[in-house]
Amino acid sequence: MRILFVCLGNICRSPTAEGVLRTLAAREAPELPLEVDSAGTAGYHVGEPPDPRTQQAAARRGYNLTALRARVVEPADFERFDLILGMDEENLRVLRRRAPTHSHERLRLLLDFAPESGSRDVPDPYYGGPNGFEEVLDLVEAATRGLLAHLRQRDRAA
Ligand code: 4NP
Repeated sequence: MRILFVCLGNICRSPTAEGVLRTLAAREAPELPLEVDSAGTAGYHVGEPPDPRTQQAAARRGYNLTALRARVVEPADFERFDLILGMDEENLRVLRRRAPTHSHERLRLLLDFAPESGSRDVPDPYYGGPNGFEEVLDLVEAATRGLLAHLRQRDRAA
């Protein structure tokens, strides 16, 4: 199962989700055959590592994002990935416009997997204060647990 997380710049929210899923899956579901990646809908930061504020907040919770580098979503992603999870509705709209119709069923919001959060969007922390990065982690951790439960079910059904 191949999972792609998508935000705007691929330096804050989607690399956080990539790092959290990689870490939690290795710890809690090592039997799942997962491939995890992230990308942005915009190219402002291509080739850059995650924002230092994102890296520091993630490291405090035990997630190492240092090896990640930003890239833009490309047409092949819509064929390659089984689930393409937008971090907010705006990025999901962009994905719907760019994806071929046959791939639309692969497009979802990450927070569909955290219905108890009461949110649909992981808020963009880039121009806000430090609390925004903690909120990203709280939402991403909750949704990743829901996502892992979904992936276990899917794996059993396959
Ligand atoms: P991300 O955050 O989409 O979570 O990576 C942002 C990163 C950069 C910018 C906006 C949002 N930017 O405008 O450069």
